[in-house]
Amino acid sequence: MALHGEADAVIDQPQSAANDYSHLGPLGPLMANPQVTEIMVMGVRDVYVEVDGKIVLTPVSFANDDELMAVIRYIVEAVGRRISAETPLADARLADGSRVHVAIPPVAVDGPLLNIRKFVRGPLNMEDLIRLGSCSESAFGFLKACVIARANVVISGGTGSGKTTLLNVLSGYLPDDERIVTIEDAAELQLRQRHVARLESRPAGPDGKEITIRDLVVSSLRMRPDRLVVGEVRGPEALDMLQAMNTGHDGSMTSIHANKPRDALARIETLVLMAGYDLPVRAIRAQITSAINVIVHLERMRDGGRKVVQISEVTGMEEDVITMQDVFRFIRTGIDEQGRVIGRFASTGLRPRVLDQLENLGLEMPEEIISLFHESARSMR
Ligand SMILES: Nc1ncnc2c1ncn2[C@@H]1O[C@H](COP(=O)(O)OP(=O)(O)OP(=O)(O)O)[C@@H](O)[C@H]1O
Ligand SMILES: [Mg+2]
Repeated sequence: MALHGEADAVIDQPQSAANDYSHLGPLGPLMANPQVTEIMVMGVRDVYVEVDGKIVLTPVSFANDDELMAVIRYIVEAVGRRISAETPLADARLADGSRVHVAIPPVAVDGPLLNIRKFVRGPLNMEDLIRLGSCSESAFGFLKACVIARANVVISGGTGSGKTTLLNVLSGYLPDDERIVTIEDAAELQLRQRHVARLESRPAGPDGKEITIRDLVVSSLRMRPDRLVVGEVRGPEALDMLQAMNTGHDGSMTSIHANKPRDALARIETLVLMAGYDLPVRAIRAQITSAINVIVHLERMRDGGRKVVQISEVTGMEEDVITMQDVFRFIRTGIDEQGRVIGRFASTGLRPRVLDQLENLGLEMPEEIISLFHESARSMR
């Protein structure tokens, strides 16, 4: 019941005139409330929201199945798709850019499931992430140096750990005079640069065939990109990404769902195998090693916060094993009175390879970064 108290405050907010959510029935006020970042409908009775990184049950409910299905149909049909017992899953997007996923019976066992990841206008920026304790200034300095040095960066983490948000922040470091192509399942990235070609995949529908992320990666390579930003790799496009990263499109970025940096590499290997070329594992690992320079790993903490917990460099191969070296780590020291995770971001002091890359390109590394890595400080003077 305490949860309801909290949630009442969440929905008791005036609806903004700018966004018309009237067709969303009881979800309208939740959509209009800027504190709510995600809405999770589980059948007619249970509507959960995420507020401040925490999931809370709201008193919102639907009158009956028909009302909920009407909302779902409205959303799905507005983007020219259909949902029925025969095609019970659908992705969609609201007019304001929010990302929607729907599953209805028979695949949804206890009634329709509807998820809305709200589109945040003016997404979190670097200063926000530092203020929220998600990453330190020096770690950001290092990541910025990586982007400038054209390192290929992979952001890994679990569901909702802040991968897309961080990808957006890191994309902000891409130089203005380069041609950027972005490829996503649902266009979420909001790059500040002007020269950005945006591509979005689409499922098969009555009016056309499926266009996959892989199709778009292949197509983008004919558009002379300097940098590719792929929202998330989750299929055989991993192979095309690696090849692109290895053939002149260095300085590209993507994210992947994984629980540890090492798992991210294993996952990429599995995804490459999905491309079906029967490549020897060793050859795939060699490709991964030469393509990927840095892995930034995010975690969603129990207190609802998101943190960059590890930044690792891919350093090479020993026998058949890819070797990695940590550059930064979040060292957890405890929990404060409010139940928030506390700790500090520490550099491991090992000289990152990316410093060599910067040197080779004749670019300067910010002094505060050099001083973090003792070995590097010596060799760069
Ligand atoms: N560092 C952060 N601190 C607090 N909240 C954050 C942080 N990063 C992202 N968020 C919020 O967490 C939610 C999920 O973020 P985001 O979409 O970036 O995650 P994701 O890992 O890409 O998720 P998915 O796995 O669904 O693609 C959003 O509501 C976002 O505003
Ligand atoms: Mg994402």
